[in-house]
Amino acid sequence: MPAPPAPPSTTQLLRPDADGVARAVALLRAGALVAIPTETVYGLAGDAANDRAVAGIFAAKDRPRFNPLIVHLADLAQARQIARLTPLAEALAKAFWPGPMTLVLPLGPGARVSPLVTSGLDTVALRLPAHPLARAVLTGFGGGLAAPSANPSGRISPVSAAHVMAGLGGRIAAVLDGGDCAVGLESTILDATGDAPILLRAGGLAVEAIEDRLGVKVKTGTDGPHPTAPGQLAVHYAPRGTVRLDATTPEPGEVWIGFGPDHPGDAALNLSPAADLTEAAARLFHLLHEADRRAGPSGRIAVAPIPETGLGRAINDRLRRAAAPRG
Ligand code: TXA
Ligand code: MG
Repeated sequence: MPAPPAPPSTTQLLRPDADGVARAVALLRAGALVAIPTETVYGLAGDAANDRAVAGIFAAKDRPRFNPLIVHLADLAQARQIARLTPLAEALAKAFWPGPMTLVLPLGPGARVSPLVTSGLDTVALRLPAHPLARAVLTGFGGGLAAPSANPSGRISPVSAAHVMAGLGGRIAAVLDGGDCAVGLESTILDATGDAPILLRAGGLAVEAIEDRLGVKVKTGTDGPHPTAPGQLAVHYAPRGTVRLDATTPEPGEVWIGFGPDHPGDAALNLSPAADLTEAAARLFHLLHEADRRAGPSGRIAVAPIPETGLGRAINDRLRRAAAPRG
């Protein structure tokens, strides 16, 4: 894994011109985090294929949980490299992209997306934003940018560069100043994996507009049981066998995931030999997969204690989901 970019002590405010866009692209290519304007809210962007950059997004926001993130793209060709576009998705994309609409789609084979972006799910949320600066950055970058709203966790979404600076100044490399966001409300999220769209989050694109344009009914919370609040989804990655937490030593037969110098275990299965929580977050899903492979279908996995601070809270949240009893 590449060395992490040094944490920025000051956050650059980039101007909304060709030079500002070029600097934003260069920082993103280097794995740094840049807040970019979209027509909905400012997004905290990082390279969606770079585990460290994505882990850094959670760290900068101080997010207690690894909610799955939206991947932002410049065009449909890029979308088809990441997800399988269902006929429904093709129709929605034609009608409303670029714009304030996010589609949850089946993850494509070989998609270059960090498992931290999808929370280990087999679906991925995609959006083509309409804001000219977002499009310029995405076109220059040439790949997917993971971007949640650019606010500290639990705070109000930012709709100006000043909001972003107030919340995340000193914690991210730069903010591209695009003035005030036109929509100012997060995108509408639709599950488009099936034949009919399901509303997962109401947002900047009205359900009525979708129904009028496509001549389809959008399923909402009143139409039956389905997840209405994407942030609340039980998005745990569960290995096939059992998971034991806070394991200071492995029991015979267990595959032990270590952390730090005190509980090192097998070097290839240590979340971070230096006890760096950002590195541990970036490696978490990879090592759970590897432990699952080694342990086998009915095997036992043990995980060393992870401190309940900073990203450690998010890591422990994911581990508790992985270890939760299931039927
Ligand atoms: O307008 C927006 O959507 C802004 C701008 C920056 O694009 N982004 C935004 O991201 O609001 P965020 O991370 O705050 O919200 C993303 C939502 C979360 O509720 C998450 O659970 C959901 O998208 N989501 C992402 N991937 C998903 C998936 N595979 N299945 C279901 N929900 C998903
Ligand atoms: Mg948000």
